[in-house]
Amino acid sequence: MTPPKRKPKIHIGHQGTLGDPFANLADDVRQGLTKTPKELSPKYFYDAQGAELFEQICELPEYYPTRTERALLEQIADEVIASCRATTLVEFGSGSSRKTRILLDAMAHAGLLDLYVPIDISEDILRQTAHTLSDDYSGLRVHGVIGDFEHPVATLSEGGPRLIIFLGGTIGNLTPDEATAFLRNVGRLLTPEDRFLLGTDLVKDVSLLERAYNDAAGVTAAFNRNILSVINRHLDANFVPDRFEHLAFYNREASRIEMHLVARESHQVWIDALDLAVDFAESEWIRTEISCKYTREMVETMLAQAGLHLVRWDTDQDHLFALSLSESVQ
Ligand code: SAH
Ligand code: TRP
Repeated sequence: MTPPKRKPKIHIGHQGTLGDPFANLADDVRQGLTKTPKELSPKYFYDAQGAELFEQICELPEYYPTRTERALLEQIADEVIASCRATTLVEFGSGSSRKTRILLDAMAHAGLLDLYVPIDISEDILRQTAHTLSDDYSGLRVHGVIGDFEHPVATLSEGGPRLIIFLGGTIGNLTPDEATAFLRNVGRLLTPEDRFLLGTDLVKDVSLLERAYNDAAGVTAAFNRNILSVINRHLDANFVPDRFEHLAFYNREASRIEMHLVARESHQVWIDALDLAVDFAESEWIRTEISCKYTREMVETMLAQAGLHLVRWDTDQDHLFALSLSESVQ
């Protein structure tokens, strides 16, 4: 007897025809470092070293979002899965998928777990995570996608009903226009039976916010400087990361944390792959990241603009972080 043909358990592919998600790095860096004020896109933080530093950030006593979101997921996972009966979980910016396990467990307990589709720009962590999860969850198929979630895709996955998730407050790293474009794409891809679960960091006391991005152990500073090492390696540049200071502060008007690298002294950097010399004045900034903070009204408005309707809102008792579940407006 020939055994029944089985679908592959693990498949990792590049998003559509886009190929290497680092393909735009050269253009992005040229554009960002030749304008005033200078800026770099946070999507380039996450090489193997950056991904590891981010994991350390998640464990820091000052960094409340990860543990708060985890506790919320533990509270609501069974109910969310019972209400949407998802058999497929699709995740944008999945990283190490640590918190995702809470949802995978809930799906497994309900006897629904079939397919997990992690989407991340960081190939190393995506491959590693896909294998670990496939080993840990028997019967689970993992179809990882190496790609940039800002590039719209035609389809999300086979199977369904699907739960699409975007955790960690990562949506806050997009500008309001980028976030709306991202959500519109999600809204377009959602079938009437699919649901979208979004994690957002909330507006709160400024000192609590600023401490989360200025930890005493200096891990966030190391993470911030790591983007310069990524550029050195990919574009043959000669940044000396220690010539830059980490600076993170809350911008109240824009409702966001801003992270910068500040030149300690005036100097020039050579980027060989771009044939470009970049001059830094003393105290000149490169903005490396924004992390927007929201109120419930802001989240609902943002979802509504994308054709999404809130069906469930959960927050911790201190209102630090929120999970919102939404569906497509038909
Ligand atoms: N979801 C995890 C990780 C958050 S860190 C958590 O909640 O802890 C952000 C993750 O998004 C990283 O793994 C990073 O590689 C990925 N990422 C950042 N920008 C991206 C982009 N434009 N496209 C795809 N993945 C991206
Ligand atoms: N999505 C996370 C956030 O905005 C990413 C993040 C947390 C981060 N800490 C950081 C990015 C420090 C850069 C540096 O909270």
